[in-house]
Amino acid sequence: MWSLVSVILLLSLLSACSSQPATVYEGLGGEPGLAAVVDNLLERMAKDEQIVRYFQDTDIALFREGLTEHLCDVADGPCEYGGDDMKATHRGLNITQADFDRLVQLLIYAMQEEGIPIAVRNDLLKRLAPMYGDVVYQ
Ligand code: HEM
Repeated sequence: MWSLVSVILLLSLLSACSSQPATVYEGLGGEPGLAAVVDNLLERMAKDEQIVRYFQDTDIALFREGLTEHLCDVADGPCEYGGDDMKATHRGLNITQADFDRLVQLLIYAMQEEGIPIAVRNDLLKRLAPMYGDVVYQ
């Protein structure tokens, strides 16, 4: 028969195993984790014909910085995005729904390759999805 102490120990072990990260940012692995996801994504974007054509005139170092800050903010990390809102940022680009879906797919691949847990991946995607209306056909 298990003693009360072993039951309590087992329960606390189980709850430690299932505990969620406090924020999506933490789940992404904080600053180094987010940087790895962003760099992985940028490499995929650079190789993707459908996506890369939008970035011909873009300063990639600045874009990397802005995207990182934006995602950190969206993921409840310790950042406040200081750039223009998403509508203004994407105005005039005429981004299609297919482009949006493609970029989301590349982000999913990037997060998978960087070992981000599925619950965290889905949480970040859930926060990005409502931005669709501000990005597409602006
Ligand atoms: C939820 C989806 C998206 C988010 C959260 C997002 C986020 C951002 C952010 C934060 C910036 C500004 C970065 C900075 O401060 O410099 C930016 C710029 C930009 N985004 Fe997006 N974006 C999204 C979807 C897309 C899609 C689908 C495309 C096209 C395939 C796209 C193309 C661009 C381009 C061309 C720029 C401008 C780069 C420049 O300044 O030259 N974005 N985006």
